[in-house]
Amino acid sequence: MCGIVGYLGNKQAFDILIKGLHRLEYRGYDSAGVALVDNNGNLNVYKTKGKVNNLEQYCKDKNINGTVGIAHTRWATHGEPNDKNAHPHYSQSKNLAIIHNGIIENYLTLKTFLISKGYEFKSDTDTEVVVQFIEYIMQSQKCDLYSAVTHTLTQLVGAYAIGVVERNNPNLLIAARKASPLIVGVGNNEYFLGSDASPIIEYTNKVIYINDEQVVKIERGKEIEIHDLKNVKLQPVINEISLSLDDIEKGGFEHFMLKEIFEQPKSLSLCMNGRLNKELNEIKLSAITDFGDKFDKCQRIVITACGTSWHAGLIGKYLFENLCRIPVEIEVASEFRYRDPVILPNDILIAISQSGETADTLAAMELAKKQGAFVFGICNVIGSSVARMTDTGVYTHAGPEIGVASTKAFTTQVAVLVMTALAVAKRKNSIKDEEYHSIIGELSHIEEKINKIFQQVDHIKDISKIFTYAKNFIYLGRGYNYPVAMEGALKLKEISYIHAEGYPAAEMKHGPIALIDEEMPTVVIAPDNTNHLYQKVLSNVQEVKARKGRIIAIVCEGDDGVAKNADYTIEIPKTVACLSPLLTVIPLQLLSYYIAVAKGRNVDQPRNLAKSVTVE
Ligand code: AGP
Ligand code: GLU
Repeated sequence: MCGIVGYLGNKQAFDILIKGLHRLEYRGYDSAGVALVDNNGNLNVYKTKGKVNNLEQYCKDKNINGTVGIAHTRWATHGEPNDKNAHPHYSQSKNLAIIHNGIIENYLTLKTFLISKGYEFKSDTDTEVVVQFIEYIMQSQKCDLYSAVTHTLTQLVGAYAIGVVERNNPNLLIAARKASPLIVGVGNNEYFLGSDASPIIEYTNKVIYINDEQVVKIERGKEIEIHDLKNVKLQPVINEISLSLDDIEKGGFEHFMLKEIFEQPKSLSLCMNGRLNKELNEIKLSAITDFGDKFDKCQRIVITACGTSWHAGLIGKYLFENLCRIPVEIEVASEFRYRDPVILPNDILIAISQSGETADTLAAMELAKKQGAFVFGICNVIGSSVARMTDTGVYTHAGPEIGVASTKAFTTQVAVLVMTALAVAKRKNSIKDEEYHSIIGELSHIEEKINKIFQQVDHIKDISKIFTYAKNFIYLGRGYNYPVAMEGALKLKEISYIHAEGYPAAEMKHGPIALIDEEMPTVVIAPDNTNHLYQKVLSNVQEVKARKGRIIAIVCEGDDGVAKNADYTIEIPKTVACLSPLLTVIPLQLLSYYIAVAKGRNVDQPRNLAKSVTVE
């Protein structure tokens, strides 16, 4: 995790770096720091525990001159989040400074070696080892910074995106990556580094995506140079990105999360644009047009992802099995990658990721790919590592998601899964025309149905205020809404720090029912009273009631079964079962949001979390 920013150009770097850090703060906020090289032989490092605002305060009376610099906002992996472990880190002589996103797995071996050579360490981080080693190589091999960085990287095991600057060289900025994201922005006689494009887009829409094991040399007045670790020169490929500044700002909302919840009708519309044809009542996905034969041939789909994306994947299992009659296995990527999984010939691996940079998901994809699976990606961030590693895939087009708690990414992932399953089912003739058209018809009305749920926002806010006392919550759902129950519970724990569990409703009596008492709220998701599972959920509701549990029910408009037994109800418009997660999750997102706000939590940057989990 963590965010890195860099600048070399004609402007003063400090403001650009600080603004960039604010944009990347969603990636980590344990500490922040900046290193600036000026023309008078100074390499100044300022760093402090806490958020970027603290750093700005701290720098008020400091020398912030310099037209080249690097900056970092940290999500600690090695060493407490305190001042000394904050990045940038100096080398022993203070001639070099480094920022790093990732984990160096063999840092202890290197550290022991460097200590034996007389190096002293100021921090507990793995990162400091890298900058010390670079200096050691420069001194022992009498080489320049660029060669020393390249040599050092060949010795590292682990993941890195780094930026390095040198005291007596205000014309040089070195960067490199392996398994952590890094983008270079190309301006007019200026270059930017960023963990993503958000610190860059204000200045240029031209970017270079740096690939694994590539080292970048940015020298004032010269063309950018990229080499691999064997020193082979590579041709930089400049891409134009279409992100706008509005996309990454709060636009009048109190939090990014709230903005992103309310953006869902729009993000779903962008996601379906050009794919769902309302006139012809059909779905067209180029990934399926081009690679549909892979789905015709496959005997099995394996889905892998983490967190919220995994919850979307669970819904994908129901979709592909129900609509396409293809067996699906789903597993969280961190387990899949270390389990020596069996990959069968013609297997398709679907990897789902908002950021496209989640380390476990990337490793799972790599493993499946090596074993011959066809890899299909569902991803939000354009040009991200997931997008680049897949054989084909579908972008969700949700737009930047900045709130750490995922909202619009989830609904667009579900929409992509629905569209993919429909397109595959149509090819395979595993769906009746009537059902195919009815789902498409409903999909085309989903935005207005979500807007209808938003009309109840005050009602949801009122309910939230009642439940701030709770220490535990249980969420129950069945079928397509079982993963939604898990997602609702995850949202609540992430941002309000209330413990919550999502369960398949019928499992409750096998254990969790022991928790139910008058203190314990149960959220029941029972959207469709015509569904064959509805009566069963109703029985579960009565079981909770009989034990004096308090119930918040998500039901369809006009419901008179579950609603009658509930203490509070939130109504949603009716839709077909497979699309119900797109509606039922909305009140759950709002409920978590307002409970967290009422408890005074930092909704966009909850404790211990980061948006993009680029470490294991
Ligand atoms: C969601 O609210 C979480 N913050 C988290 O579980 C997230 O979904 C997970 O880390 C996966 O991220 P990705 O979609 O970017 O791969
Ligand atoms: N491993 C480094 C540290 O703990 C960097 C962590 C990160 O990527 O945020 O400082």
